[in-house]
Amino acid sequence: MVHSQSIFFFLFTFFIASHAAPPAVESCPMDLSYVETFPWDTSTCRDPIDSEHCCQSLLSLFGIGLAKHLKETSIFQLPSENISTACLQDFKLKLSSLKIQPSLVPSCFQNSTQFVTNTSSCAGISNITDWKQKVGMLSPLDTSCNGDLSSETSCNICTEAGFKVTAQLRTVAPKNSTKCFYYSVLYAIGIVNQFGPTDPVTAGCILGMALSSKGSSNNRKILKLVFGLLGAVVGVILAFVLIVMYRKWNKMRRENLYHRSVENSVRDSVLPNTGAKWFHISELEKATNKFSQKNMIGQGGDGVVYKGTLSDGTLVAVKEIFDLETRGDEEFCYEVEIISKIKHRNLLALRGCCVTSHSVKGKRRFLVYDYMPNGSLSYQLSINGANKLTWPQRKNIILDVAKGLAYLHYEIKPPIFHRDIKATNILLDSKMKAKVADFGLAKQGNEGQSHLTTRVAGTYGYLAPEYALYGQLTEKSDVYSFGIVILEVMSGRKVLDTMNSPVVLITDWAWTLAKTGKVDEIFDEAVKDEGPEKIMERFVLVGILCAHAMVALRPTIAEALKMLEGDIDIPNLPDRPVPLGHESFQSSLLQGSGRTTPYTSFYSTSNISTISRN
Ligand SMILES: *[C@@H]1O[C@H](CO)[C@@H](O)[C@H](O)[C@H]1NC(C)=O
Ligand SMILES: *[C@@H]1O[C@H](CO)[C@@H](O)[C@H](O)[C@H]1NC(C)=O
Ligand SMILES: *[C@@H]1O[C@H](CO)[C@@H](O)[C@H](O)[C@H]1NC(C)=O
Ligand SMILES: *[C@@H]1O[C@H](CO)[C@@H](O)[C@H](O)[C@H]1NC(C)=O
Ligand SMILES: *[C@@H]1O[C@H](CO)[C@@H](O)[C@H](O)[C@H]1NC(C)=O
Repeated sequence: MVHSQSIFFFLFTFFIASHAAPPAVESCPMDLSYVETFPWDTSTCRDPIDSEHCCQSLLSLFGIGLAKHLKETSIFQLPSENISTACLQDFKLKLSSLKIQPSLVPSCFQNSTQFVTNTSSCAGISNITDWKQKVGMLSPLDTSCNGDLSSETSCNICTEAGFKVTAQLRTVAPKNSTKCFYYSVLYAIGIVNQFGPTDPVTAGCILGMALSSKGSSNNRKILKLVFGLLGAVVGVILAFVLIVMYRKWNKMRRENLYHRSVENSVRDSVLPNTGAKWFHISELEKATNKFSQKNMIGQGGDGVVYKGTLSDGTLVAVKEIFDLETRGDEEFCYEVEIISKIKHRNLLALRGCCVTSHSVKGKRRFLVYDYMPNGSLSYQLSINGANKLTWPQRKNIILDVAKGLAYLHYEIKPPIFHRDIKATNILLDSKMKAKVADFGLAKQGNEGQSHLTTRVAGTYGYLAPEYALYGQLTEKSDVYSFGIVILEVMSGRKVLDTMNSPVVLITDWAWTLAKTGKVDEIFDEAVKDEGPEKIMERFVLVGILCAHAMVALRPTIAEALKMLEGDIDIPNLPDRPVPLGHESFQSSLLQGSGRTTPYTSFYSTSNISTISRN
């Protein structure tokens, strides 16, 4: 007994020693223990990994540490590359204790010098003393970002202050300002805000962290509520609350009644001749094992997707739609009716839908689609999908998407503009045939909150400039996004290279190479030698043409399809106007109204920038 104990002790100390004594290199000055406790939404970093959103989350999460470090040491970012490497190593360990693949770190942060203090990052600033010298003792950030940022308004005001300060720094050092926005963010959350970087609400606003649902009910709100109730206005508040509750209850009651009538009328009238089915909630609960976490296969701003098995054994994807406000039941059902009639082999078929109201859980809406075993194009192109697509597969995927889009634009009256073509919305069936998903439903502005990060920049990178800037939507906006998809598929790169600074937009990168006759450098190494160069070149050129900044110079999707198939020639690449990302363009926008500013983010050179949408 004693013997075995001592062996155990020996092993134990050995274990400790072997782990506690890494080679004597520099250690990380950041305390990253918050990674394990902070209530961030880890779902995008778990199977199936949504690498775009996961990387954004990891960048924000690491930003919390940098902001704490700034608060403690007054230094922006980290002192040396070795220290940065050590910190990223610690970061990996913390993530693996959350059962998140540590390999995501190197793939998200390709460059460990990204976090090293560098005087050419932002106007020569490396510490708070420099900052105060350049920005002044009392910047807009100091007055706008100090308090509680839980309301959309207060968060917006803080965000706008971030832009003002960034614009101010850009005028000080137009050339050396790539990271000024990032510095503003670190300053706002690390130095200014009273709750600090580890407060979920603050991080949610300033860093745009996606929080886990657990985290959104934070203590601060409860405290505030307690104080509020203790105040002299207890009576007034109670009376008010009662009135509001009564109204809400009354409204819900009315809606439920209304809803039931809609449900009944729809159940009989809408779906019979479309082949789509009106599901009962119990069927979906059974199919998805009561919407268990295990069956969750995706999560986005607009809903959660579960994998399910219907009683006849068919696999389905069940999407719960979060947005219940934008559309009434009637409108929702009308849209369901329309999309369930759209059938094309390159469009993801709707199998049915479900609207339910529950006395406790409230109203819920679901759409049921065919299950796509090979996931999304984005997944297939990511490291997790191992980027194993062959050239013939890539070629067919591009053609499939073009055909699906051509159908939406030309075969349906009135035509449907998808408005959200991106690699995550292109799904692959068991034979790797591509199907365009998520069309037809009115897109809701769920991400209406301003964020200081590019959490949704992935999507925004796909937006045609005229649509992003002026809301001008035409069929050519879809063509733009399609062009981006072609370039991503051909190059294996993502729409935005946010890990390097300045941020590189795939179109700018491809344009520059194509114009200098280096089209072959655009091809993904993985398939470079697989296909005939002429055809691959044709695909790339069509991608560049489709993603042309000027609407008039883009082909229609029908023309693009013909060019891809070699039926018509590709015109010479027209010249581009001054790129929107040009410094002068950016700073004039930055000084302009706050509404237009955020849309420049996908051209902007800051590592972290803002999105806001109405
Ligand atoms: C950084 O680490 C490398 C090896 O890990 C070492 O050779 C180098 O001297 C270190 N640099 C500094 C500045 O400590
Ligand atoms: C890392 O970034 C720096 C500057 O941002 C750049 O000079 C360097 O080439 C990059 N290294 C890699 C491996 O991408
Ligand atoms: C600072 O960044 C510039 C480019 O952004 C890079 O060329 C330079 O090597 C960096 N300096 C240090 C010390 O990392
Ligand atoms: C940018 O920083 C570099 C050194 O990091 C300096 O040589 C250069 O003059 C700076 N440029 C501007 C416009 O401030
Ligand atoms: C801040 O950085 C500057 C150089 O950028 C340096 O001269 C100064 O001593 C630093 N101040 C503090 C308090 O570290």
